[in-house]
Amino acid sequence: MCAMQKNTTPCYYSEYLDLTRFLDAQNPVSGQYQEEEAHDEMLFIIVHQAYELWFKQILHELRSIIDIFNEDSVDEKYHGKIIQRLDRIIKIQKVLNDQITILETMTPLDFLDFRDYLIPASGFQSIQFKEIEILLGLTMKYRINFDKKSFYNRLNDKDRKYLLNLEEQPNLFNLIESWLERMPFLERKNFSFVQAYQSALDQMVTRDLEIVKHVDYLSEDEREFQINDLKNTRAGFDALFEQKVYDKLQSEGKLRMSRKSILGAIFINLYRDEPAFQQPYHILKKLTEVDELFTQWRHRHTVMVHRMIGAKIGTGGSSGHDYLSKTTQNNRFFRELFNLSTYLIPRSELPQLPEELERDMGFSV
Ligand code: HEM
Repeated sequence: MCAMQKNTTPCYYSEYLDLTRFLDAQNPVSGQYQEEEAHDEMLFIIVHQAYELWFKQILHELRSIIDIFNEDSVDEKYHGKIIQRLDRIIKIQKVLNDQITILETMTPLDFLDFRDYLIPASGFQSIQFKEIEILLGLTMKYRINFDKKSFYNRLNDKDRKYLLNLEEQPNLFNLIESWLERMPFLERKNFSFVQAYQSALDQMVTRDLEIVKHVDYLSEDEREFQINDLKNTRAGFDALFEQKVYDKLQSEGKLRMSRKSILGAIFINLYRDEPAFQQPYHILKKLTEVDELFTQWRHRHTVMVHRMIGAKIGTGGSSGHDYLSKTTQNNRFFRELFNLSTYLIPRSELPQLPEELERDMGFSV
């Protein structure tokens, strides 16, 4: 590696940051149509531009993470970098969520001073936002019905082609799924995690059932209710152990991630104290945080939109607040990682790993 060279031309703050172009890029349109420019339009532009800048940084981090995962195997030595970059995305998301409060200093009446000049532009056309969604794994198939086609119809040809092409590229959801599927410790010659875990679950539910059957503080109605509840819990676990049950749920759209990768994620979560699993566990944890903060942003934006335009339709032609509420509910990335908690059992009930497996828990997948 060659040593870093000394800079030959002196660097100047405003040139380095290209501030002439950058600060010349806030151009309110209201002044073109009415005598006086709407005061709050500047804030509206700057807040959106600040978002787009941070989207650019998120994409920069996200693409580098995708590049690391988009290999046949991911060496452990990259785990730290992945965690650090996911963490950076998370910190940016927190700023993005807070930023909504600045825009909320604009009142609905102030917004009406320029809103109509924006039609038909809309957040739908934020290509970087859609790019982040697609790269995280929210491809067309998984969007709500209105969202599937409508936003594509509102884009120019170049942007539409660009995003449609991106839909075909590797996304983080698919790459994480294959990474989890490659988890090497699930099945060993003398140890099957799936079997050991299934019997630990069985024992736990059977023991709970015995308690419910025999305690004297439950009325007969309550006892029956609890017994049914436990049986339902057990039935819910079946999908994990029986491919057919799993396939049915997947075909009904209730599950997306493969059974094998969910088992891998459960294994990592249960044995996260093992040195080899500490970082994979943090990767999964950070991914749930990214999803959670995205969902929080959608919710904050939806409520702000409700306050700003009530039940009016959006400038992009959606049902506005109503459409956005549905995307908040539906447009998630790593739902299965949240549902994992259903399948966790207390540390004290965990099947003991064979010694040889514990020793081997330094790995590269
Ligand atoms: C006065 C403030 C705002 C209002 C009234 C508003 C309104 C809306 C509405 C009604 C939609 C649904 C699509 C449509 O019919 O147009 C939408 C979508 C969107 N807005 Fe906003 N918005 C505001 C501020 C922002 C800000 C500051 C951002 C930051 C980038 C933003 C980003 C988006 C994005 C990315 C979408 C697409 C969401 C999706 O399809 O899931 N909006 N907005």
